[in-house]
Amino acid sequence: MRMVLLGAPGSGKGTQAKLICERYGIAHISTGDMLRAAVQAGTELGRRVKAIMDAGELVPDAVVLALIEERIAQPDCAKGFLLDGFPRTLAQAEGLEALGIDLDYVIEIDVPDEEVVKRLSGRRVHPGSGRVYHLLYHPPKEDCKDDITGEPLIQRDDDREETVRKRLEVYRQQTAPLIDFYRRRAQQGKVRFATLSGVGRVEAVQAEIRQILAGKA
Ligand code: AP5
Repeated sequence: MRMVLLGAPGSGKGTQAKLICERYGIAHISTGDMLRAAVQAGTELGRRVKAIMDAGELVPDAVVLALIEERIAQPDCAKGFLLDGFPRTLAQAEGLEALGIDLDYVIEIDVPDEEVVKRLSGRRVHPGSGRVYHLLYHPPKEDCKDDITGEPLIQRDDDREETVRKRLEVYRQQTAPLIDFYRRRAQQGKVRFATLSGVGRVEAVQAEIRQILAGKA
């Protein structure tokens, strides 16, 4: 299975992606996680993209497409993969098609802006694994520590409110046009496209995604 999760920052893509990938045994490919790993490791790529990410802007298409092409060629993607946070522009979606990569599903998670701001201000992340928590909605067992390793959780640099609002604007301008792009692809029979509300318990959203993947919604 090859799928894309589409949705604004904070809509729950990463949270749902982890559950889907565990359930279906497919690779979780998050361009955000890959780019943050490069920043943390201080690689040349990381140095190039840090300021762009901190400002809530998008990294150039060619950079992200090169990362995706290399990642998808790895053996763990042979059984399928979920793209989380990619594609994010029409050029990226067309670039993916130009690589000859067909998708089975594109699922859009829809969440209102004010809910996004609440979610991202309370988000805490375990940098080593990418595990995501929320101070109110999904708190760790021990204050500010990862449930599995006990290591400290961090707040992402781009989760400050003004940057979150910038990311929402970038989403509306550059990524939202992909909704119509994939609707058209669905009409052509090239992919299955569905939109669902991401408001509600994580488990309820997950159940709805599974219904879609089982062809029941
Ligand atoms: P990226 O890491 O992809 O960030 P994003 O798309 O902005 O998405 P987020 O990770 O913020 O949110 P999410 O939807 O995964 O939500 P989550 O599950 O964590 O990108 C970061 C940056 O990298 C970009 O700004 C850009 O600079 C660059 N970049 C990445 N990909 C790129 C690309 N393709 N092209 C160019 N640049 C790129 O949930 C959020 C919070 O809500 C958590 O605290 C969670 O616990 C909580 N939560 C989740 N679900 C629920 C629920 N149902 N109810 C209550 N709380 C919930």
